[in-house]
Amino acid sequence: MKGITRREFINKSSVVGGAGYATLFALGLIKAGPAKGLNVENSPKAKGKKVIILGAGLAGMTAAYELGKLGYDCTILEARDRVGGRVWTLREGSRETEVDGQEQICKFTNGNYLNAGAARIPHHHEISLKYCKELGIKLEIFNNVNDAAYFYSKGRGPLNNKSIRMREIKSDFRGYTCELLAKAIDQKSLDLPMSPKDVEKLLAYLRAEGDLSPDMFYKGSERRGYPLAKGATGKPIYADPYLLREILYSGFTHPAFHNVGEYTYHQQPTLLQVVGGTDTLPKAFASRLEDIIQLNAVVQAIRKTEKGVNIEYLDAQGKAKKLKADFCICTIPLPVLKDIPNDFSEPVKAAISEIEYMKTGKIGIQFKRRFWEEDDKIFGGITKTNMDITQIFYPSSDFLAKTGVLKGYYNFNRLAEKVGDLSLKEREKLALDQGGKIHPQYQAEFDNAFSLAWHKIPYSLGGWANYSEESRNNHFQTLLKPDGNFYFAGEHTTYLTAWMAGAFESAQRVVENIQDRVVKG
Ligand code: PHE
Repeated sequence: MKGITRREFINKSSVVGGAGYATLFALGLIKAGPAKGLNVENSPKAKGKKVIILGAGLAGMTAAYELGKLGYDCTILEARDRVGGRVWTLREGSRETEVDGQEQICKFTNGNYLNAGAARIPHHHEISLKYCKELGIKLEIFNNVNDAAYFYSKGRGPLNNKSIRMREIKSDFRGYTCELLAKAIDQKSLDLPMSPKDVEKLLAYLRAEGDLSPDMFYKGSERRGYPLAKGATGKPIYADPYLLREILYSGFTHPAFHNVGEYTYHQQPTLLQVVGGTDTLPKAFASRLEDIIQLNAVVQAIRKTEKGVNIEYLDAQGKAKKLKADFCICTIPLPVLKDIPNDFSEPVKAAISEIEYMKTGKIGIQFKRRFWEEDDKIFGGITKTNMDITQIFYPSSDFLAKTGVLKGYYNFNRLAEKVGDLSLKEREKLALDQGGKIHPQYQAEFDNAFSLAWHKIPYSLGGWANYSEESRNNHFQTLLKPDGNFYFAGEHTTYLTAWMAGAFESAQRVVENIQDRVVKG
């Protein structure tokens, strides 16, 4: 660092990958922010201020929990007969009726469950981990990537219509691309500014990365596994690799297969899950907020008053009620809010009607036997396919138990709409037919299923906010500001849409904003 001032150093390092904050921090020029969570201890208490919170999902309950610490008098109105919103776990007896459907009652047994909504927690979602810790929620690893799971390409290319272990395709593809690059570099056919030493080092890397032979060819690899398990005393027999063009023409570079689970920031290992089902988390909040949550309270109108808010709703007995307060935190998903009469400003109304939500569906299938573990040796992880089911998730817990529940599909957008439009029986049949191509054991071992299309679930009407660039530009900032005495929270008011961390962050934001306003008078 000789001959460079601290200012120059900060400026220089700031342009490299946005390292400015880390540098300032390292130099002791700024202090670490508070650990995720509100510093409420030294904040003045807001005695007597009333807040109505619409929705007992994670955002609403977190807001109530934090406001409670500050002395606010909160009431949560929740339309459903349960808390948690889209953090919902299907268990024996869970019920749901979609907007146009018949009632489903979950018949999972033996303590089996399926997280219908939130399921996995990225390791860097500090705020989610903080609340789990604070509420005593136990976590375990969610296996998001398992190379023993399958790729199944229906109707495409030479490798179509068979279950292929992910480790085979990944090893082969890595091997061939490393071989190609090694050849190109060796023959100087790439215009790279590299010294002979650089070339030597890069070749060594490519050899290791692709498991190439000493003469730099990819000839297959033990990383692909053995086609026949020979036991400890039999000589292992390797299979020939697939050809590069077989892999390319079978569609395995398509996003349906490509490495989402390892590459995208929110899905890189390690992911975590709540032991026993994610609904344990909202239930833990609810047990701390018992006397302030009103279930089966359906909002009818959202009104501004001269000094605050007035919410009209039907209570659990269907009686029309009115509740006045100083502030309201509205966490209702926008497709639901759209149809509730309100006094919101024009920009807020525009945001509510123009921000789109993701269509998404899941099915939980209980099988009489965990054949994917017993026969296929798949313990957690995800199988990928270009069929409508898109993917199959294997449970990351209770390995080798007697029975188990798979996530038989988890799809989005057009496919979720198509499958969601089927009857419950047809959805089940589709999941069994398509999944059965990958796992022939499906038909014999099937026990029961429960499916859902989030865009058809009352009081949600979508999976999560799915901003376009345009709606982000036009409407996002509107939702961050109060509209009179109304504040908006929920994953849709963040860049962390579709994650619990978004709900938590948004709750902290509105609590800070309200407290700021109250303290400043
Ligand atoms: N958080 C949800 C999930 O883990 C939705 C999501 C899917 C978000 C894929 C980002 C990427 O399934």
